[in-house]
Amino acid sequence: MLRCPVSSLYVTTPIYYVNAKPHIGHAYTTIASDVYARFHRMLGYDVKFTTGTDEHGKKIEQSARNAGVAPQEFTDKISQLFQDLLPILNISNDDFIRTTEPRHKAATQHFWNVLSDNGYIYLGEYAGWYDMRNEAYFDEEELVDGKSPFGGEVQYMTEPCYFFKLSAFQEKLLDFYEKNQDFIYPTQRKNEVVSFVERGLKDLAVSRTTFDWGIPVPKDPDHVIYVWLDALTNYMTSNGYPEKDQNNDEFWGNVIHFVGKEIVRFHAIYWPAFLMAAGIAPPKSVVSHGWWLSEGEKMSKSVGNVQDPVKYCRLFGSDALRYFVLRELSFGSDGNFSLAGFIGRYNSMLANSYGNLCSRVLSFIKKYCDGKVIRPGNTCTEDADFQREVSVALEEAVPAIREYAFSRYLEKIEYAISAANQYMDRQKPWALRDTEPTRTQDVLFVLIEQIYKITKYLYPIVPIASEKVLRQINVPYELRLDIDDGFADVAIIGELEPVFPKIETEDLSRFDVFEKD
Ligand code: MSP
Repeated sequence: MLRCPVSSLYVTTPIYYVNAKPHIGHAYTTIASDVYARFHRMLGYDVKFTTGTDEHGKKIEQSARNAGVAPQEFTDKISQLFQDLLPILNISNDDFIRTTEPRHKAATQHFWNVLSDNGYIYLGEYAGWYDMRNEAYFDEEELVDGKSPFGGEVQYMTEPCYFFKLSAFQEKLLDFYEKNQDFIYPTQRKNEVVSFVERGLKDLAVSRTTFDWGIPVPKDPDHVIYVWLDALTNYMTSNGYPEKDQNNDEFWGNVIHFVGKEIVRFHAIYWPAFLMAAGIAPPKSVVSHGWWLSEGEKMSKSVGNVQDPVKYCRLFGSDALRYFVLRELSFGSDGNFSLAGFIGRYNSMLANSYGNLCSRVLSFIKKYCDGKVIRPGNTCTEDADFQREVSVALEEAVPAIREYAFSRYLEKIEYAISAANQYMDRQKPWALRDTEPTRTQDVLFVLIEQIYKITKYLYPIVPIASEKVLRQINVPYELRLDIDDGFADVAIIGELEPVFPKIETEDLSRFDVFEKD
């Protein structure tokens, strides 16, 4: 029994900057979060899953100016591209939050007032090297070859500024990390965060006066709120803050933030410190993934190698993209996105292994068993061995996904698929059908039942294909999304539909996959 008694889970993606169109890196964080959310819904969790866009800050103000439009018009347009991407990727989010929405402005200003009333915000003056691209100040000694540690160009600036007393949280954070070993995933990132905090924390500049495109500081509108304090608050806005008390909320009690490795520091240091200062419980986990290179290089418009998720979905389907990104890259590590790698994995696993298994079993039943097979009274050792092999692989898949090891999860399922193909090759129903019709139908029932189980486990990754297979084997809709449900005693095959047709190509160059404009 895998299903849990109802328990709540809140899954978030980072909210995406709206200075450029979404690319494969953005799609990746969203897909991983979606798979985690879908899998937990199948386990019976009451899941809330949010995503959105991060729309304030100097960088965005400047991008709008460069485009010759007002910031709101600019952010409306790009935010829409991120919203449009969600159905294309088949994302099951419950909310899409924009930081320019009134509900978010109200939540952020309320949060600011709480931090200020609790004595954690004071007015001072800031002087330092400012990285505009990454919206962060650095001291002279933090610069690397005259640039920010993120690689951005910097300029020396001073401004009156509100500070957050981050320095007061060093011990509290270290104590929190110690007591919550699962707070940061993977361990390498946790170790980096812990040693960063151990080196000492300085108070953090949390307001800006050098531009206007942001949420005004309550009672001092010459200042806008630092974009990261604004952005991080989205996770609570979407969860009904401030009307809803987060400390007494079942979703907030189990919130998991999926983020890329470069923004762990903001989520694992600043965010819990802000929350502690406001008397609100920090999130349960910050789970970080690695970065995609494109065809071996950093993605960049000037190189022309920006991988466009929309094109992949149009050419090969969202299931194929979802499968590839989670299978190819071991979560937490960096990886390389290439068209050849994509097609290679698609053909070998989705088309030749899974697609072929479904098509040969289903069409065999349709053709030679009148479209119907019945649960056998007895099964032989070979059947039992095969059934056990599949069950063990699927059981091992569950802890993998709980540990965010999506690639390992898929490896286990692939093992089960290959066991099914081998069982069919050994049993050779095509050779038995004239001489041993009963054994033939038993073998096919054993196979179809295992296809049913495997397909359910594949569902969070490739929902469209899984639905198609479950529809062909007549599984009622309400039973499709419950991981524990057993298979019927009679399998009736409906209309056959192809699943993952092979991509025929000798010449990859005919696929135009890169983002153009
Ligand atoms: N706006 C902030 C997040 C605020 S959350 C309160 C931000 N936005 S972002 O658009 O720059 O990045 C959003 C996500 O996309 C991050 O998780 C980041 O890691 C991911 N990716 C952007 N490019 C990427 C790759 N090339 N590869 C993998 N993911 C990367 O940061």
